[in-house]
Amino acid sequence: MSIDSNKCYILAIESSCDDTSAAVLENDKVLSNVVANQAIHQEYGGVVPELASRAHQQNIVPVVTAALRKANIDKKQLSAIAFTSGPGLLGSLLVGTSFSKSMAMGLDIPLIDINHMQAHILAHFIDEEGYEKPSFPFLGITISGGHTQIVRVDNYFIMNVIGETIDDAVGEAFDKSAKLLGLPYPGGPLIDKNAQSGDPRAFPFTIPNVSELNFSFSGLKTQIMYFIQKQKAANPNFIEEHCNDVCASIQYTIVKILMNKIKKAVKQTGITQIAIGGGVSANSDIRKALQDAEKQYGWKTYLPKFEYTTDNAAMIGIVGYLKYKELKDKKGYKETGISAQSKLKI
Ligand code: KG4
Ligand code: ZN
Repeated sequence: MSIDSNKCYILAIESSCDDTSAAVLENDKVLSNVVANQAIHQEYGGVVPELASRAHQQNIVPVVTAALRKANIDKKQLSAIAFTSGPGLLGSLLVGTSFSKSMAMGLDIPLIDINHMQAHILAHFIDEEGYEKPSFPFLGITISGGHTQIVRVDNYFIMNVIGETIDDAVGEAFDKSAKLLGLPYPGGPLIDKNAQSGDPRAFPFTIPNVSELNFSFSGLKTQIMYFIQKQKAANPNFIEEHCNDVCASIQYTIVKILMNKIKKAVKQTGITQIAIGGGVSANSDIRKALQDAEKQYGWKTYLPKFEYTTDNAAMIGIVGYLKYKELKDKKGYKETGISAQSKLKI
């Protein structure tokens, strides 16, 4: 397919953790976004890296085939392949990386490596009817199972991390608290669900005092662990009787920690556009808190569609498209004879 065509088709592949995902984009529009979750980790209460890479090996071909079929695109029509090069679990990343390299080489099309965290932020630029995209600069808040960052985003490719966790990620705080309550992995969505029918002020937990725009969640996790142990010693049925209140109190504390730092970042940078990304941005109370802040402080907040919050290949595809376009405009490679493993690194 000619790279001078107005339309380009990007196949995107994401395999950084425990979701195998493939998407096809026509420019900035998503034609398909297929995600295979790995149920195997549930019985272990967390992602087991060796099992994750083995499951990716099994899933990658069916997932890519389904994404192409759903998009009604033949692989010969593809303009480029974008894949997650990191950060993530090495064994998991290797499956997506080697698959993408081989496919790009076989088709003799460009291969574009994508940073997973950048993709969580740029997911806001997927063209969706009725969804207004942020303008620059904005603050990208990436909250997931592996990261908690406040990022100043000056343009698609210039981003600076201005605050981050010094220990656990916020998603880990959700998942580990859920495990202490006997809830299956990943516990974040279940804490969220239970919290909706609990009292957020039932059990007060401490907001940690961390410098600058940084976060810490390990102290909270320890506090929750001792709290549950103590309550269970006094009443063996404590969890059954108070699960929703405990979930609501944990969620209230975590949302407060996040919101305090976001407010501080707004004050420090003067930037009032906030765009959240990562699995935890699916959380109903963080969404509510941001919508309230919009009304109260005049911020503009951007909440992605649920399917683009947790790990997915569509977000890899949008960065692939933006990078592809940038290089095409700069005539960064020749139309023919493209080496599948070079030329497109920017
Ligand atoms: O971005 P993601 O899919 O994977 C990583 O890159 O880590 O994020 C997964 C994390 C898990 O910790 C999961 O529990 C959390 O996102 N999560 C939630 C919710 N939905 C997913 N946490 C709180 N509330 C939710 N509704
Ligand atoms: Zn992620």
